[in-house]
Parts: sequence; structure tokens; C-alpha cells
Amino acid sequence: MKDAANIYNMPLRSTDVFVGSYQRSGTTWVQELVWLLANDLDYATATNVPLQRRYRFLEMFMMVELDQIDEFIECVYGPDADVKTLKPFLTQTGTPTSGMIAAMPESKPRFIKTHLPMSLLNPKLLDTAKMVYVARDPRDVAVSSFHFAKFFKIMHFPGGFKELWSLFQKGLFILCPIFEHVKDAWALRNQPNMLFLFYEDLSKDLPASIRKVADFLGKSLNQEQMDRLCDHLSIENFKKNKSINNEGLREYGILDSDETFIRKGKAGGWRDYFDEEMTQQAEQWIANNLRDTDLRYPSMTQ
Ligand code: A3P
Repeated sequence: MKDAANIYNMPLRSTDVFVGSYQRSGTTWVQELVWLLANDLDYATATNVPLQRRYRFLEMFMMVELDQIDEFIECVYGPDADVKTLKPFLTQTGTPTSGMIAAMPESKPRFIKTHLPMSLLNPKLLDTAKMVYVARDPRDVAVSSFHFAKFFKIMHFPGGFKELWSLFQKGLFILCPIFEHVKDAWALRNQPNMLFLFYEDLSKDLPASIRKVADFLGKSLNQEQMDRLCDHLSIENFKKNKSINNEGLREYGILDSDETFIRKGKAGGWRDYFDEEMTQQAEQWIANNLRDTDLRYPSMTQ
């Protein structure tokens, strides 16, 4: 609610490019792809300027309550916390971004990342700006969200995967419910300024997805450029890419030493986390939520 009205009424520009998703759906992958294509494969800048600085994260501020920072630091990090480093960082993180986004120069396109559903964004967004939305099998999203909740100690998630799954499928985890989020975007997928992608399609045939995004942005690639881009976007290279992997945040002591932001990057990895009962529960949950829509995930139709 801190900035909802400003976000909903956000003035847009024809040069704005949004990348949207429910969290842990492949946003970072698509962000880098979109940014590189839109910027004529400027690898030098992509390497030197972290992705978080090339995009504004619209609702990042939701992660931190500005008036509870002290209690938060105490609770998450204990009495020995490095308050001097953490406080300015958390204050910056918790500050709404819409003002900063409005102040960005008109001369350059704005790249905006969001995990908000389309229904919380400006309803005229697609009349003016472009949106690339990426969706992923919700079971893989749940597993990835679990690791993310451990990775960012700031989220302070106390349970195991079973607890997260239980909350997730009841729509009680952060940014849930996931199906409504995806269905909001799916309903707009045929609008000229919307490109709807699936993580599983990128996984299966990255060049085909790159071509789709390039067409959408009015760009073209020769074979050599395609090969280099595929290589750059590979999970192995992403893991090593300091501009992408968020390893720089380790200095704030907010990351778990056993987890990484770029993780397995696999479609279908959920199978290692779900027992028989959870698998059946998930199937039922998915079937119930897909009953009123023609949305079909590639992983469920193959
Ligand atoms: P896993 O945790 O399943 O590995 P987001 O960027 O929306 O937070 O999504 C993160 C998920 O995308 C993570 O999934 C991450 O590993 C995966 N991912 C990031 N870059 C990737 C890449 N280049 N190839 C495949 N998967 C990637």
C-alpha cells in the first residue's frame, strides 16, 4: 500500500520496457536477454553495470518496512549486526521507486522489473509500454522460492520445503497467489505490446525464444550473434557473471553461505522435492486452477 497508487497511476513512456513475472520464474534470464537485444548486444555495459542497476525493480521496497528496520536487524542478525552497513542498505531497499523512475531521463529507455501482477500496474500500460512476461511451472517456482527464502536471510523463512509448499499452494506466500498472477498476464498475451514466454520454452530451445524476443523488440541477429548470446545466457556463465549473480550483496551479510541466486536452472527439478502425497496435491491444485482458463504450461502438455 506504501506506493500502490503511484505504481497504478505511473506515467508511462513509449520507450519503457517491463519484464514481469511471478518471482523465481526466470525473470533474471529474460531481463538480461531483453536488455542485450534492446541495447544492440552491448556486452561491455552488460558486464560492467550490474543488472540491478540496468533495471529498476518496481516494488523492491516491499521487502523492507522503513519504520521497523532496527527491530528487523536485531531480529534477523542478532545483537552483533553490522548496523552501520545494514541500515543505509535496508533504508535504500525499502524506499519506494516510483519517484526515482519518474525522474529518469527521457533520453534513454527505462528498463523496469516487476513481480506485481498486471492488475496492480497501470491498466493502460500496454497501450504505451512493452512488457515481456515469463511464467514457469509453479512446482519449480515453489522449490526455487524456497531456496530464495533461504538465500536472502532477510526473508527469515523458518521452515523446510514442506512448510513453504503448504503456504504457497494456499496462496499465503509472498506475492501469491501465483495462478491469478499468471492468468492476469495470459489474458493479455495477444496484445501487440505484450510478449508472454515460458521458462520451459527457453530451457528447451533458447534460440527460438531469443528470436521471439528479438522480433518483439524489432531486432535481428546473425548466427554468430545468436551463438554468442546463447553462450552468454547459459546457466554456467550466469553463475559466474558478477553482473548477474548478486554475489556482491554478500558483503552486507544478508546472504546464506549455502545458497546462490542463480541456482540449478532446471525445468522439472521439483520432482526431487515432492513426495507422493505432495505430487498428487499439486496435480489437483493445478487442475483446479486451470479449469477456468486455456493457460497450459509446456511442462504439463508434453
Ligand atoms: P532455480 O532456483 O530453479 O535454479 P528469477 O530470476 O525470476 O528469480 O528466477 C530464478 C530462477 O531462474 C532460478 O531457478 C535460477 O537458477 C533460474 N535461472 C537464472 N538464470 C538462468 C539461466 N541462464 N538458465 C536457466 N535458468 C536460469
